[in-house]
Amino acid sequence: MPEPVTPVTFPPAFLWGAATSAYQIEGAVREDGRTPSIWDTFSHTPGRTAGGEHGDIAVDHYHRYRDDVAMMADLGLTAYRFSVSWSRVQPTGRGPAVQVGLDFYRRLVDELLAVGIKPALTLYHWDLPQELEDAGGWPERDTAYRFAEYAQIVGEALGDRVEQWITLNEPWCSAFLGYGSGVHAPGRTDAGASLRAAHHLNLAHGLATSALRSAIPARNSIAVSLNSSVVRPASQSPADLAAARKIDDLANGVFHGPMLHGSYPQSLFEATRSITDWSYVLDNDLTLIHQPLDALGLNYYTPTLVEAAASASAGPRADGHGASAHSPWPGADDVAFLQTPGERTEMGWTIDPTGLYDLITRYTREAPGLPLYVTENGAAYDDKPDPEGRVHDPERIAYLHGHLSAVRRAIADGADVRGYYLWSLMDNFEWAYGYEKRFGAVYVDYATLARTPKSSARWYGEAARTGVLPT
Ligand code: NOJ
Repeated sequence: MPEPVTPVTFPPAFLWGAATSAYQIEGAVREDGRTPSIWDTFSHTPGRTAGGEHGDIAVDHYHRYRDDVAMMADLGLTAYRFSVSWSRVQPTGRGPAVQVGLDFYRRLVDELLAVGIKPALTLYHWDLPQELEDAGGWPERDTAYRFAEYAQIVGEALGDRVEQWITLNEPWCSAFLGYGSGVHAPGRTDAGASLRAAHHLNLAHGLATSALRSAIPARNSIAVSLNSSVVRPASQSPADLAAARKIDDLANGVFHGPMLHGSYPQSLFEATRSITDWSYVLDNDLTLIHQPLDALGLNYYTPTLVEAAASASAGPRADGHGASAHSPWPGADDVAFLQTPGERTEMGWTIDPTGLYDLITRYTREAPGLPLYVTENGAAYDDKPDPEGRVHDPERIAYLHGHLSAVRRAIADGADVRGYYLWSLMDNFEWAYGYEKRFGAVYVDYATLARTPKSSARWYGEAARTGVLPT
């Protein structure tokens, strides 16, 4: 007799969501007063993205949002995480809001609410208005104040209908891929600027959180989505353990230190002393940053494996963040990144659901009492329609099954995880990789922009409707 399979069942209130971001799906980049963001500029700069691809049309969500919401409802999703394009709402990054820009998001939210899907709104998913970059971008303190003003505008416009608010998405990528390795917009390669950017993103988060508190009803929830890394040492040797601690500071401590605990790790200052003097951290900044939060968003894809190295020239970096001659890890030339063994997705990222379990249990310990959401998790595969036009993606189903089971196990062990947002609702513009990497549960034919739910979308929809992972 085969072993009976124990069903993986979730709490009834658990949110089953999917996530997207503005630049990756909206298109319509020149409509209704929108002006360029750093991603428009970057993607139109030769050599920056695969095949010179850009988000001008993306998957045309700006015009198709009604159908996209109907599709989500049809699948059975109960939550949807999207981001607002700052350049649509406040084109130059300062000054009065553009009403038509805000209206688009109001219509989107109303459409979601009408079919019982809970919106989660991210204010910043990497698309800084170009004019703010021209004025210095995230390394400049003023950008944080501009962000707070924008947060206030969006909060006042949508606070009556959006309950879940997320200030920043993966500030690590904004700071260290945008200003350090340069594989993301704006494409600068200056280690000192990347650390200044990190601090001002922290400040932006704190100031925006305070601005939102005054702009939105108290019942609403404010969070941040961090791509907190699960950093593992290659061995238990003191040198490898020290390498893992250093990367943990640079990946995690640099954000959750100030945001959750009100201080930067001392070891981070020491490791980066030759690059920056941190004099831009002003007296009251840590108080401004350390605002009470209502939840924490965790984005997880794969763990990070490191060892001590004589120098970075020891070999190619396998940190999974794209090829660049410049490291996104300031002050960590003595750390080597290794490929974690095991099966990988199309991104080359090793599949390891235990990393998600470890991440959740870590934050359960470090931020006791703070509800957690997995605000992104998913996989890219080389999906193709069969002759009947159906898209079968059993690998993605296996990936989701493994990771959702890890979430369930963490809940059973006491973690307060309230929901999960699959990345992504549909195939879209995967930043420097262009359109080739397909993360969607829904397939997009880029010639016609037709949407076709993959088998994983049906699988996930059934999980959402029943609260049990289909076997
Ligand atoms: C994290 C980012 O937030 C999202 O924009 C991106 O597409 C996914 N990871 C996959 O790389």
